[in-house]
Amino acid sequence: MQERRPIRSYVLRQGRITHAQRRAHDELLPVYGVPFSRAPLDLERLFGRSAPKILEIGFGMGETTAAIAQAHPENDYLGVEVHTPGVGSLLARIAELRLKNVRVIQHDVVEVLQAMIAPAALDGVHVFFPDPWPKKRHHKRRLIQAPLVALLASKMKSGAVLHACTDWEDYARQMLEVLSAEPALANTASGYARRPDTRPQTKFERRGLGLGHRVWDLQFRKI
Ligand SMILES: C[S@@+](CC[C@H](N)C(=O)[O-])C[C@H]1O[C@@H](n2cnc3c(N)ncnc32)[C@H](O)[C@@H]1O
Repeated sequence: MQERRPIRSYVLRQGRITHAQRRAHDELLPVYGVPFSRAPLDLERLFGRSAPKILEIGFGMGETTAAIAQAHPENDYLGVEVHTPGVGSLLARIAELRLKNVRVIQHDVVEVLQAMIAPAALDGVHVFFPDPWPKKRHHKRRLIQAPLVALLASKMKSGAVLHACTDWEDYARQMLEVLSAEPALANTASGYARRPDTRPQTKFERRGLGLGHRVWDLQFRKI
């Protein structure tokens, strides 16, 4: 019988990559990158210290990741992204800002969570503007669904906060429904959260707000 391919939350496109992104990717991934492996990571060893560990899922170009990591040197950030230009872009920024508290894994986060993250290893999770997959027949590709949320919750310490946001209203509703249904998580707000100051505004978000779009934030705490 033919093995069924898993439904992924992304499609890898060739896309354009700038010379600088390619160079940063080639030169800096061996420095700040962590290769995918089937063995659980020792996060304290990876960052060389004991400090809160935050997982960022799908960091895109890494603008937000770098800004948060710079503003919070007391935390360590593990960014996971599949898109090569974005990985190159964040790597360049890490080097430029001399950030010591960011590491990058270029791989599907579902497999990273299953294989590399130990139970109760995370002090926080960021999922900012995950791909909305707006067409109904593509909704199955959306990241925030019950099985991934249960997997995430199992990797969070008690008290750790999962922070997600989206500018798609029906995805926001889906997030609220799925996160509220996870027994290991409790909503920190009644419904959507107030936009926390800890999430910097990106160019993409500012443009959307200028066009009258809204953003919904959700913050759920591991029980
Ligand atoms: C719409 S972008 C948002 C990027 C960024 N968080 C921001 O706010 O600008 C979503 C990103 O998630 C990444 N992504 C989607 N599914 C992923 C997965 N399973 N593992 C890792 N990255 C993923 C995509 O490559 C894309 O860069």
